[in-house]
Amino acid sequence: MIKIAPSILAADFSKLGEEVQEVEKAGADWIHIDVMDGHFVPNITMGPIVVDALRPLTKLPLDVHLMIENPDHYIEDFAKAGADWITVHVEAATHLHRTIQLIRSFGVKPGVVLNPHTPIESIQHILEDVDMVLFMTVNPGFGGQKFIHSVIPKVEQLAEIIKDRGLSVEIQIDGGINEETIVLCAKAGATVFVAGSAIYGKEDRAKALQSIKRAGEE
Ligand code: DX5
Ligand code: ZN
Repeated sequence: MIKIAPSILAADFSKLGEEVQEVEKAGADWIHIDVMDGHFVPNITMGPIVVDALRPLTKLPLDVHLMIENPDHYIEDFAKAGADWITVHVEAATHLHRTIQLIRSFGVKPGVVLNPHTPIESIQHILEDVDMVLFMTVNPGFGGQKFIHSVIPKVEQLAEIIKDRGLSVEIQIDGGINEETIVLCAKAGATVFVAGSAIYGKEDRAKALQSIKRAGEE
């Protein structure tokens, strides 16, 4: 069973609560929250207060994707605000084991994120410590970008390594996911799929979400 995590980056921020509840009703599995600081990525979005505001409005796991420098400085705030998952970029965390341990110390599930060009060798020695690896299939910073196909072989390789080592690690894909690209990623072994514009950009969000999910499950 695959999981769909709509990204609220593409939602209407003037009614964010309703937007989250709409996709929950439509069958979303997680809510993906894109945190950007204007330093690690060239865009600024939202902080812990948004997670805190959404927490009482949904039962779904809140999946917080930190696209920020110095993630250690903000992990406690996101954990206390109600994050269920916190993912950090390997490119932004110099002392990755410390960061992962910090996330776990608050009872939150940790994941690591790789930019499209970052090799999977960079996480070989931390795989046993994380619950998820997130592959970016666009350069982070904005929604609605084009899917980068050269990430697929990395997904296949990691899925193989996870199987060989007998680990239970989710493989998440973020960027340019739609009915076509989800098929390629699911075949490669991915289990969780972020979709922003392909869900929130559509008139009928429920229909869009269900058809993406069905495509990924085939
Ligand atoms: C990109 C964000 C993504 C983004 C995906 O930096 O991490 O989560 O919202 O948007 P789509 O699905 O439109 O590519
Ligand atoms: Zn994201």
